[in-house]
Amino acid sequence: MKVLVLPTAERAAIRAAGLVADALAAKDRPVLGLATGSTMEQVYADLVARHRAGALSFANATTFNLDEYVGLSPDHPQSYRQTMETLLFSHVDVAPNACHLPRGDAPDPHAEAERYEAAIAFDGGIDLQLLGIGQNGHIGFNEPTSSLGARTRIKTLTRSTREANARFFDNPNEVPRYAITMGIATILDARHAVLLATGSSKAAAVARMVEGPLGADCPATALQMHPKATVIVDGDAAAELRMIDYYQEIHPDGEEPDLG
Ligand code: F6R
Repeated sequence: MKVLVLPTAERAAIRAAGLVADALAAKDRPVLGLATGSTMEQVYADLVARHRAGALSFANATTFNLDEYVGLSPDHPQSYRQTMETLLFSHVDVAPNACHLPRGDAPDPHAEAERYEAAIAFDGGIDLQLLGIGQNGHIGFNEPTSSLGARTRIKTLTRSTREANARFFDNPNEVPRYAITMGIATILDARHAVLLATGSSKAAAVARMVEGPLGADCPATALQMHPKATVIVDGDAAAELRMIDYYQEIHPDGEEPDLG
């Protein structure tokens, strides 16, 4: 695991956006895996700014989001589809039919999960997967005790995740109980996994993910098994890392080492 420690949340998000920009430039038909959540807002703002400056095009890109709430239609204001439209899709040159999220209102959510997994494979798999992390160590909506071998499927959200997401809904009772989410195995198939975590509320989960034992009680620890996982954190989220001096020595200011 590569751990990049940046001094501020903004710098951390810009570093993550830079890796997305590199992935877009690296291939004729790049496939991005995207995430929602507050942490990603600054990443998408930076990508939009780069696009407006003429430095970045999504014209040939395909995107797959990690997850969507079961029961919400794509035009529901709290759906992840709408969140992505607001933060990114409507501001860049990505083709609307190239932006994929699971259909939260599919009549058969289980069949929709299988269809989604197959669609990712059909498009050649994901080149770069963006990830956030929950305070309980979830990635996507793979809550603690999720199978580390699972693929896209329905998950029941924990009470803590529903409470954390209630801020986006008028009434906490409206927060859906279920989500369709890529599984840990789906995420591990991405050719590059990039996890961004900022703020002190993520410090314990980050330390467990990077330095703790591999275990389904913290699904993010599965990234220890990924051959190319990059964890980008600000100083607050890095606060409980025991080996922070080592990470900062290898990657001063989050940069790549000069091996020459
Ligand atoms: C959302 C997702 C979640 C979030 C995580 C962190 O698509 O996959 O795993 O990344 O809950 O959310 P924030 O950034 O709001 O703390």
